[in-house]
Amino acid sequence: MAAPRILSGIKPTGRPHLGNYFGMMRPGIEWQERGEAFYFIADYHALTTVHDPAALREYTRSVALDFLACGLDPKKAVLFRQSDVPEVTELAWLLTCLTPMPMLENCHAYKDHVAKGKVPSHGLFAYPVLMAADILLYNSNVVPVGRDQKQHVEVTRDLAEKANRVFGEVFTVPEASIVAEVATVVGLDGQKMSKSYNNTIGLFEEEKVLRKKVMSIVTDSAPVEAPKDPANSAIVALYRLCAEPDAVALMEDQFRAGGIGYGDFKKRLFEALWDRFAPFRAKRAELSADPATLDAILEDGARRARAVALPTMDRVRKAFGLK
Ligand code: ADP
Ligand code: TRP
Repeated sequence: MAAPRILSGIKPTGRPHLGNYFGMMRPGIEWQERGEAFYFIADYHALTTVHDPAALREYTRSVALDFLACGLDPKKAVLFRQSDVPEVTELAWLLTCLTPMPMLENCHAYKDHVAKGKVPSHGLFAYPVLMAADILLYNSNVVPVGRDQKQHVEVTRDLAEKANRVFGEVFTVPEASIVAEVATVVGLDGQKMSKSYNNTIGLFEEEKVLRKKVMSIVTDSAPVEAPKDPANSAIVALYRLCAEPDAVALMEDQFRAGGIGYGDFKKRLFEALWDRFAPFRAKRAELSADPATLDAILEDGARRARAVALPTMDRVRKAFGLK
């Protein structure tokens, strides 16, 4: 079989956090060894929430730097800005015309918004269709994402299958790839870590901020001597992501044995996180001192992305009767 085409995106709505890293960036970086990987900064999607142009530009560059610092290799993977290939919005329109409203009414981002009593924009409602366009434009086989995006990949599959029934074999039907152990990384409060819940640990926090955040992880009020349950602890869950298996086993044993307070475990977690991301911090400092290199990487990425997108659009326009 030919090398798979891999594609994923991340919204530039703030600085990436541990959930983004373990759920999507790290699996994406691993996939770059196994096929043709395309990763983009989803600035069109970010416009559903970010309405400050300077902030959008700044987040877009900063997320690209973060991804590169964590190991994305621009010689192997294609890194680009979503809006550098505006044809994706045309494809989104074509797909919109095949999308039943109830399918979108059922999507969680929109449902959560309505449940909170807020009025969603049409952009938020149509968000999964633009995401389907992202995936289908690049003939993607595999989409590495965290569990919260599974539903959107299902929508993409449904739309691709429908288009293929109606217009002939126009689209590749993709599959989500979700790493089970990190499908949902927990945040400081024990819920899913998310920018919208204000419970994140950023990948590149300053030392003091990181320490403060780790010390603020919510625990029960068990006293030092009491045995503690490692299964329900955000401290242990996060430690598992960044420490060696032996160190994790030791922490779990010490939780069960009692005699050590949560504060000490948190200090250990802080050290592990700080060390785990040290090489990435060094790489990021180096990259951010050289903005021209980032410009060149994004330009090259846009060129390579267009080389796939334009022929797809030709094929799709013909199939839909526009040519
Ligand atoms: P956020 O929810 O913080 O706004 P994004 O929607 O930008 O994050 O998510 C970018 C990628 O990171 C997606 O693939 C998403 O599934 C993944 N991701 C986000 N939060 C988590 C988490 N807590 N655990 C695992 N993966 C996550
Ligand atoms: N919706 C994704 C998120 O919120 C980001 C995204 C946009 C994406 N387009 C995509 C992910 C295409 C995978 C494939 O995280």
